[in-house]
Amino acid sequence: MAEVKPSREEALSLLKRYNKNEALIKHALAVEAVMRYCARKRGLDEQMWGVIGLIHDLDYEQFPAEHCRKTEEILISEGWPADYVRAVLSHGWGICTDVEPQSELEKVLYAVDELTGLVAATALVRPSRSVLDMQAKSVKKKWKDKSFAAGVNRDVITKGVEMLGMELGELIDDVIMGMREVADEIGLKGNVGAPG
Ligand SMILES: [Fe+2]
Ligand SMILES: [Fe+2]
Repeated sequence: MAEVKPSREEALSLLKRYNKNEALIKHALAVEAVMRYCARKRGLDEQMWGVIGLIHDLDYEQFPAEHCRKTEEILISEGWPADYVRAVLSHGWGICTDVEPQSELEKVLYAVDELTGLVAATALVRPSRSVLDMQAKSVKKKWKDKSFAAGVNRDVITKGVEMLGMELGELIDDVIMGMREVADEIGLKGNVGAPG
């Protein structure tokens, strides 16, 4: 197959072919939105960044023990371009792959993947249960509380932030901004703007 850039529709239908779990689909949509936001901010390829965010955990529901490797196999068999496959693999650097994030896209994906989880968990314990009225400082407070959302690997996020040469607070801002764009779809609109 020629090196045609996968479309969002193609990525979404592939994601839904392999994933039925609502939480995993919401995670994929959250990472997609944040990737799009970060690409737009840099004047880079929003479509490519979004598609990679959407598909990064493709195999996780059905093949958790082979996470990343199975996605590589599937994407190659679907004729996905090598740079897309590499970027997806790099999110598991040091965990399930040895593909180190190199491009700006890869570094952002690596850094925001876990962070979307912390932002979502923080939103859900707020009175509004929403990302729409949330500030980075709420997330920073929860960042320090290691028992809160303990499954969120803060070391990975720290490594990602260092790779990007950013401050944690700035990246949290970007993640919140990206997630706001799909707040409804990912169940984090809460009661903000609700009638009455
Ligand atoms: Fe993953
Ligand atoms: Fe992920």
